Order: sequence, then structure tokens, then C-alpha cells
Amino acid sequence: MSERLEDIAVQMVAGGRGLLAADESTSTIKKRFDTINLESTETSRRDYREMLFRSDEAMKKYISGVILYEETLFQKAADGTPFVDIIRAAGSIPGIKVDTGAKPMAKYPGETITEGLDGLGERLARYYEAGARFAKWRGVIAISSSLPTRGSVRANAQALARYAALCQEAKIVPIVEPECLMDGKPGDHNIDRCAEVTESTLRIVFEELADARVSLEGMILKPNMVIDGKNARKASVAEVAERTVQVLKRTVPSAVPGIAFLSGGQSTEEASAHLSAINATADLPWFVTFSYGRALQDSALKAWNGKPENVAAGQREFTHRAEMNSLAAKGSWKK
Ligand code: 13P
Repeated sequence: MSERLEDIAVQMVAGGRGLLAADESTSTIKKRFDTINLESTETSRRDYREMLFRSDEAMKKYISGVILYEETLFQKAADGTPFVDIIRAAGSIPGIKVDTGAKPMAKYPGETITEGLDGLGERLARYYEAGARFAKWRGVIAISSSLPTRGSVRANAQALARYAALCQEAKIVPIVEPECLMDGKPGDHNIDRCAEVTESTLRIVFEELADARVSLEGMILKPNMVIDGKNARKASVAEVAERTVQVLKRTVPSAVPGIAFLSGGQSTEEASAHLSAINATADLPWFVTFSYGRALQDSALKAWNGKPENVAAGQREFTHRAEMNSLAAKGSWKK
């Protein structure tokens, strides 16, 4: 496998394959497990993720890479095989979430700044050693009639750019994720407001990436789609696709090899429908695929329900969603 950032980046997004975001922090995975009344322990987290990573067909055919949380990067399956080896054996690339979370931003009520830059260079060297070839950092942009503020968008974009530069020096492809929230509070903004905020955010993010000397060819963008807030849903699939492509074409240089969307609280089917409609658009200058967490995992988690006898059922659900999103990444998903 090539070690060039450009080659890894293309491998992450090409050929109708996409990324599995399995990098829920310990507090987020607890929330997911709460929905099936399962206690979150190191063992239950291992069992759940082992079910996903050992879904052979899904991993080989549809999943180009897996975003891991630090615990999982160094974790072993029940039989002692490191997860990294299982992922690699399936022809998929291990990646790592490296931010330490979005924290309340001083003097900016209602907004957050993502932390994790201190000591990041040393951590990246350890993650590379452990087999990670790409990383993720998520900046969170709140949307309301008065938010986001310029100060918060700028601070988050600058942190994303500093992170991306450190990754590239460590031979790791940065996934740059500025998420303009669909499911924040109050969540009643419409698609026009989402378009406006996403466009201005991406413009600032690419300014900061340029100032940080980040190579666009060696990164992946992970944006939100342009969509109504979760409490104001009404735009059609066609409109979401059209508005999303318009904003991305205005802001994302064609030197960026790929765009891998987050699902952000869309239902599993919506996330496939929107991605497919976006990919059915003619002449996109980038590979466009998925980097879904909930939209790939929700049905698998439910089918598994924390029980060893349901592993095969969970894997079937995961494989189905992975296949649907792979079709969507080629613009050919159908309900
Ligand atoms: P969702 O697809 O559930 O939004 O998660 C993707 C992700 O990695 C957010 O950082």
C-alpha cells in the first residue's frame, strides 16, 4: 500500500466505498448503548465493535476505512487479534479521532471550541506507529438566527487547520470536519440558513487551511449536507442535493480529492437517498461518499441488542446499510 498522503486520500473515497465512523467517545457510545439498555464497559464496547469489524462482506466491499476512538485503536478482539489487523486484513484503512471534544467556548455563549491540539504531534506519532493512516477532528458550528458568530467559526477553523498541518507532517491524512449542526438547539432553522452558514464556514475553513500550508491533495473534507434543522424538516431530496452541491462547488477547491459526508441525525434511509441524489449530479470535481456513524450503525445496534446470539443479525443490518450507501456513493441507490 502506498504511503503517499494523496494515494491514501483517494483510497478512502474512491470506488463507491466509504468510511465507517465508529469513533464514538466513551460518553457518546454510552448514550447509544442506553437505547438498548446495555451497560457500556470495555468488554461490551469491544464486542459491539468486533461485530462490525468482522462483518467481512461489508468491510471488504463497501468500507474503505474505519474511524476509531483511541481505546479501540489499541484494543484486541476476544481471540486476541488486534482490531487494526482485522481492519487491514479486510483491505480497509484504520483511522483515529484525535480531537478531545467540543468544549464551551469562553465568552461565546452557546458555542464550542474543539480541543486537543496540545501534544498532538506526539500523539500522532504513536497513532501512526499503531497503524492509523488517517485522522479526524470535528469542529462544531451551532446554527440559530444569531449563531454562529464569526469569532467561533474562525477559532474552530484555525484549530482544524493546525490539526491538519500536524497530521500531514506525521504522514497521516486529515479528515477536516466542520459540522454545521442539523440537530442542535433549537434546530428550527431552514435550509436557506443552513446553506448560508455552511457556505461561510467552508470559506473560512479553506482560508485557514491555506494559511496553515495544508496540502489540499492530501486531505478529505467531512461536511454536513445542506438541509433543514431537525425540527423544521421539509426540503425534498432533490432540493437537499442541489443546495448541497451548490454550496460545495462554491467553496471546496477541486484539488481536494474527496468529500465524505457525516449523517448528522438524518435517518438511515434519508442519508442514503441524499447521498445518492448528490452523486447523480453531473460533473462533480471530487469523489463524494459517506463517513457515517449513526446512519451505518443504528439498525445494526438495534438488531444486535447486546446479545451474542444476535451477532449475525447485527452484521446483516450493517452489511445492508453499507451496501445501500455504497450504491448511493455511485448515485444508484433506489428505495
Ligand atoms: P454521524 O454520521 O452519526 O453524524 O457521525 C459521523 C461523525 O463522525 C461525526 O463526527
